[in-house]
Amino acid sequence: MNNFEFQNPTKIIFGKGTIAKLKDNLFKGEKIMMTYGGGSIKKNGVYDQVKKALEGFDVIEFGGIEPNPDFDTLMKAVKICREQGVGFLLAVGGGSVIDGTKFIAAAVEYKGDEWEILTKKTTAEECLPLASVLTMPATGSEMNSNAVISRRATKEKFDFGSPKVYPVFSILDPEVVYSIPKHQKANGLADSFIHVIEQYLTDDINTPVQDRWAEGVMKTIIETAPKVLVDKPDYDACANYMWAATCALNFFISPGVNQDWSTHMIGHELTALCGLDHGVTLAIVLPGTMRVMRKEKKAKILMYAKNVFGITQGSDEEIIDKAIEATEKFFQSLGIKTRLSDYNAGQEVIDEIYNRFEKRGTVLGEHGIVTHEKVRQILQDRL
Ligand code: NZQ
Ligand code: ZN
Repeated sequence: MNNFEFQNPTKIIFGKGTIAKLKDNLFKGEKIMMTYGGGSIKKNGVYDQVKKALEGFDVIEFGGIEPNPDFDTLMKAVKICREQGVGFLLAVGGGSVIDGTKFIAAAVEYKGDEWEILTKKTTAEECLPLASVLTMPATGSEMNSNAVISRRATKEKFDFGSPKVYPVFSILDPEVVYSIPKHQKANGLADSFIHVIEQYLTDDINTPVQDRWAEGVMKTIIETAPKVLVDKPDYDACANYMWAATCALNFFISPGVNQDWSTHMIGHELTALCGLDHGVTLAIVLPGTMRVMRKEKKAKILMYAKNVFGITQGSDEEIIDKAIEATEKFFQSLGIKTRLSDYNAGQEVIDEIYNRFEKRGTVLGEHGIVTHEKVRQILQDRL
C-alpha cells in the first residue's frame, strides 16, 4: 500500500425531509449566494423547500449554470460576488452546479486570469466557503474537492482540485431522485460506477480494504440500477443509489492505491468537442481502456471479473474478455449506447484528441502508462 494522508471535512446530512435543516447549518449575518441550474429545482419542489428554509437569511440568487458549467457564465457570478460582498455560496443542483460553485469560490479572491485556476490547478489564497443541496447523484462533488469546468468558446474542459473547496456540508435528500429523467439517472449510474473503476482497476498493490470497499460500491450500483431506472422508484432504491454515488468519489476508496482516470480525461475531450454528456463519454471509452490496457491491468481485471460479476470459467484471457463484455453490457442495460459511431463521432474526433494530447504532452493512467498513442488505440477500439 502507498503512503497516504486522508481527511474529508464535509458534513453529510442525509435523508427524507433534510432540506429543512439548511437553517440549522447556515450562519445569519452573512450574504449568501444561492446558485442553481436551468430550472429543474423550480419544477420539482426543491427550490420552494430551500427558500422556505432560508427565510430570514440574506440571500441573492444566481441561476442558469448549465450542464458542464461554463467559464463565461461562472465569471458573471464571480463579478456579482465581488460587487456585493458575498460571504457564503450555497449550490442547489447536480455536479455541474456544485462544480461551478467551487470555481466561483476559488475565483472571487483570485488575482490574475481566472482560467489559470484550471490550467495551473491553483486557487485564490482564500476561497469562499460553500455548501450544497444535491439534486442529482452522480459526481460525488457534494463530498469531494474537485471541479470540472468547460469553456465553450475554446472547446476546452479541465478539472481542478483543492482542499479549500470541499463543501462545508451537503444535504442529500433521496426524494430529489424522483424527478430526474431516465437518461440522466443512467448517466449518474455509469459515472459513479466508473469513478470506482478509475480508483480500482489499476495494478494490484495489496490493498484489500480499498478493493472490497470498491467492489461493494460497484455491486450496489449494479443491483440498484434497475430499481432506480423505473418511472417511480421506491425510496430505498433512491437512497442506496444516492449514497453509493457519493461513496464512489468521496476519497474513501483512493487512499493508498494507484489511480487511473484516463477514461475520464479522454471523456472530457469528447464532451468538449462533441457536447456529449459526461456519463455517456465514459461508457463509450471504458471498454476501450480495459481492452488496450489489459496486460497492465490483468491482475485487477481478473479480481473484478470474479468479485463483481462472478466470472471464473475459462483462461485468464477469456475471463478478461468476458469482464469487458459484462461491463459494456451493464452500460447498455442502462440505455446508454457505447460506440462513437452511435453519436456520429468519427476519425476526425480521434485525430483531434490525439493531436491535443500530443501537443500538451499529456500522459495518463497509473504510472503515466496511457500515452497519446494508447489514447488513439483506445478510441479506435470504440468507433
Ligand atoms: O440544470 P438543471 O435544471 O438543474 O437540470 C439538470 C441538468 O439538466 C438536471 N437535474 C439535476 N437534478 C435534477 C435534474 N432534473 C430533474 N430533477 C432533478 N432532481 O440534470 C441535468 C444534468 O445535471 P448535471 O449537474 O450536469 O449532472 P451531473 O451531476 O452528472 O454533473 C456533470 C458535471 O460534473 C462533472 C462532469 O464533468 C460534468 O461537468 N464531474 C465532476 C466531478 C467532481 N466534481 O468530482 C467528477 C465527475 O467525474 C465529473 O467529471
Ligand atoms: Zn465522472
